[in-house]
Amino acid sequence: MPKVHSITANGNRFTARTGDVILDSALMHGVEFPHDCRAGRCGSCLARILRGVTLGGETLQRGMVHACQARAVSDLELQFDRLPPVQSVPAQVSSLTERGSDVIEVGLKLSEPIPYRPGQYCTFKFRGYPQRCFSPTHPADGSHTGDDITLHVKRVRGGRVSNALGRKIKPGHRLRVEGPFGAAFYRRNVANRLVLVAGGTGFAPILSIATAALADDPARAVELVVGARTIASLYMLKRLIKLERHPGVNLTVTANELPARSRLDAFIQRGGPAEHLPDLLPDDTIYAAGAPAMIKRIATLVDEVGADFYSDPFEQAANASAGWLTRAFTWPLRRLAA
Ligand code: FES
Repeated sequence: MPKVHSITANGNRFTARTGDVILDSALMHGVEFPHDCRAGRCGSCLARILRGVTLGGETLQRGMVHACQARAVSDLELQFDRLPPVQSVPAQVSSLTERGSDVIEVGLKLSEPIPYRPGQYCTFKFRGYPQRCFSPTHPADGSHTGDDITLHVKRVRGGRVSNALGRKIKPGHRLRVEGPFGAAFYRRNVANRLVLVAGGTGFAPILSIATAALADDPARAVELVVGARTIASLYMLKRLIKLERHPGVNLTVTANELPARSRLDAFIQRGGPAEHLPDLLPDDTIYAAGAPAMIKRIATLVDEVGADFYSDPFEQAANASAGWLTRAFTWPLRRLAA
């Protein structure tokens, strides 16, 4: 006979037999537990293990599991973040502005607000085009209301959506927005140093997080490391210079392709963001957004110090012909296995 374990999640009690999936047991007992994909991808069900042992569902951070994958093998005490509920609302394109050499800023007007935490992402289904995932960010002019969303979209060769923006998709084009999703969101009520790392349009969620953190505490210690492939792709320089005016912000800008002996050498570091991180400390909280290779490298460095790490990597859309970088999964929070 499998053993029955007692589980407490945010104060709510339920039971599970040895080997039962924690999320399934919670839902079966009518216990509210955030979830969406139920496949270990979206990060909605992330839970911290305060007491006890689970099997499976590990994440990039020690002590955190995907409840949709983790199985009960002992009594447990768990804690999860309460997230805004997922909504699906109609919207239309309100503005399109080219930024840098290969990024377009897309303004959207929603029929009603979707509350999201800075750093989370939504899905966007432009009428007549396949669905994509992006993180809302702050518009360049700083304006922001509850029912508008701003995106940074990188144009990718062969990308069906990115190449239609501003060409076939114009202001007034209708779409459906669903979200929010993801666990790499800004956590309030902590005052430790933030290390924010962005590659390319990973700057969008990192800007949201930085803006929220500096609104809470304008003197917050923030190490901001932002990179792009070329100087022309550094579409965010003006925003970075604004952020650097805060007394606690230390900015590092990188470019993989920098002309030999460039006069920008003093300001722009050669290489990628992962090569120019500050010395990480165990008390740091690190957020990173960008390509999976960059995230993997940062996760290894974070693992050496045991700091908190939150990340949603970008990956190629499943449809290879789309040639599109999207935010297709959350890859949060597990220290790499030794
Ligand atoms: S519901 Fe568990 S990761 Fe999506």
